Parts: sequence; C-alpha cells; structure tokens
Amino acid sequence: MNGTIQKNHDYKKYIIDSKLQYFKPHASKIEKTFAEEISSSLNRDSKFIAPKFFYDKRGSVLFEKICTLPEYYPTRTEIDILKNLQAELSLFIDESFRLVELGSGASVKTRLLLDVFAQIQKTTEYFPIDISEILTESSEQLLRDYANLRITGIIDTYEGGLEFLKNYDERKNLILFLGSSFGNFSPSAGKNFLGKINSTMKSGDLFLIGLDLVKDSHILESAYNDAQGVTAEFNLNVLSRINDELDADFNLSNFSHHSIYNSGDQRIEMYLKSMVKQSVIISKSNLLLNLEKNELIHTEHSHKYTVEQIRTLLESTGFKINHMWLDDKNYFSLTLVSKN
Ligand code: AVI
Repeated sequence: MNGTIQKNHDYKKYIIDSKLQYFKPHASKIEKTFAEEISSSLNRDSKFIAPKFFYDKRGSVLFEKICTLPEYYPTRTEIDILKNLQAELSLFIDESFRLVELGSGASVKTRLLLDVFAQIQKTTEYFPIDISEILTESSEQLLRDYANLRITGIIDTYEGGLEFLKNYDERKNLILFLGSSFGNFSPSAGKNFLGKINSTMKSGDLFLIGLDLVKDSHILESAYNDAQGVTAEFNLNVLSRINDELDADFNLSNFSHHSIYNSGDQRIEMYLKSMVKQSVIISKSNLLLNLEKNELIHTEHSHKYTVEQIRTLLESTGFKINHMWLDDKNYFSLTLVSKN
C-alpha cells in the first residue's frame, strides 16, 4: 500500500489521497496467530477450523463465486430486497449520516446503499470494515464509480472496527451487516456481538442487518452443496491455506466436503470429512494431527431464523425495530433498527 503513514495509539493510518485513507492495527494488536489458533482448534476431540480462515485471497474469490451460483439464493434475494427498500430507506437518513459496513468484502451490495446516499448527500463518507485486504481493491473501484465518495477503510476484525468507530467522532452512522454473516456466529456469540454493536451506537444511529430465514431443508442443503462444487472447493481451500501458510501436508484428495441442515438447531453445518485414517503434519502449529476414517473437522455453522426469532433477538439486545423487509418467497430478511 503506497501513501503517507501516520501513527496513532493502536492503528497506523495510511493516507492514499484526499478521498481515500486506511487504518490498520499495529501487529502488536493481533491477539492470537493463525498458527496458534489452528494448533488449539485441531488438537482436541471435536476438531474445528474457524470460518474466518476461509477468506484468504482465493477463498474470497471463491466466496464471490458462490454468491452467483443458482443454488445460493441468499445473495440475489438480498439484492432484490435492497433494490426494493431504497425509496423507503431514504426516509430514515439525511445529510448527517455516514455509511459503515461490517465485512464489506467486494462491496457489491454496498452500491445499492451508496445510490440512496447519493440522492440525499453532496458528499458521502463510507467506512468499510474488513479483515481482508480485498477492501483496498473494492475501495479503489468504488471511488472510480462514485465521484462524491470519501472512504476510510478499517482493515481489522469486526470488534476492532467497532471499537475504532466508537471512539472516532460524533457523526451519525448507518451500520450495515449484510449477507447473513451474523448466521455464522453461535447464538451466544451472536448475542454478545449485537450487544457490542449496540454499545458502539449513539442515539440516532441506525443498524441494517440481513438474515437468512428458515425454509425447506432441500433448498438450504442445495445452497451449500452446489452442483458445480464451488462450495466444496471453498471449504477445501482452507486446507490449502494451512498447507501454504503453516507449512502443512494436507492431501486434499483425502478429504471431502460435507454439509447438512440440522433442523433442530436451525443451521447448516459444514465439515471436512477425512476419507481415510491419516496423519498430517502442521509444522508451524507444532502439531501432528491424527484423523480417523470418516472423522469430521467442523468448519462452519450458518444459522437460519424465523421472523419472530429475529424480532426477539434484536429487542432482547437493546434495539428498537424500525422496519423489516422480506422478499416474496420469505427467503431472506433485512431489518432496520435503532438503539432503544
Ligand atoms: C459468509 N456466510 C454468510 C456464508 C453463509 O452462507 O453462511 C458463507 C458460506 N459458506 C458456504 N457458502 C457460503
């Protein structure tokens, strides 16, 4: 990244030009390394790899591809809802708001919100928060397409980004958390996270959250078991990443993608299944991993909600519901809330 570098307490500030700046935490702020997390999550009876590790460069590209698959309805359904809510949303915001996005990724859906802001504001400020440096590419592309945009990118975890925002200034924020990324939290971690968002918000701030709804299990299972095998590639890619970054020797052909809908817990469960009894060395995690034939490594949960559960969840974490939008088939929801 080129540009002027300034330092504050926890972040380095990179000023690229008058329209674009980034904040990135100092290395010392990163709490646990990839190698340490993998070492503890695979060195136990029920093994797991945290889903945040999916998103290296290739993983992010594969995820973008998933979003365009015929079976993966969440992205296109959320886009349809966003198109339909543009007029109504404009009634809730004014000149004083900035747009903040958690997990902005490629910022595709963001454009539909930026269009709303562009109708109301002369200059729009956008704060994408994302752990992946894909943020820098998408920010540059957005600046090419929106003349009156100013971007401050925060390359950090959601929690880090929210803490940053809390201490930043007094401007009103519309915080976006789209794509049902919230569904990847466990229910208790999710509640804590909503509490964290709530405590970051000032009165007058708004929060728009996209959540996937409970539906027929065949529709859900095919969304996570697509015919082209892109979701399988995405899941297996985390092993390639461990091979490359942690000096490991996973043989990918000894693993298969496994995903099922658990209707009791209302979630898609995604695993990597060991097809044979095998041992894998992960040098940088100092680990010899022994796997039984058919042993599962858990990689992701994707929780689905009912409309009633969404209301209860948001109200119990200190929010007031302003509006909820659904699509015709009731596949997906977008809910706009403020601090109670
Ligand atoms: C990012 N997250 C909301 C996606 C989901 O649907 O849970 C990740 C994903 N995993 C497999 N397909 C998509």
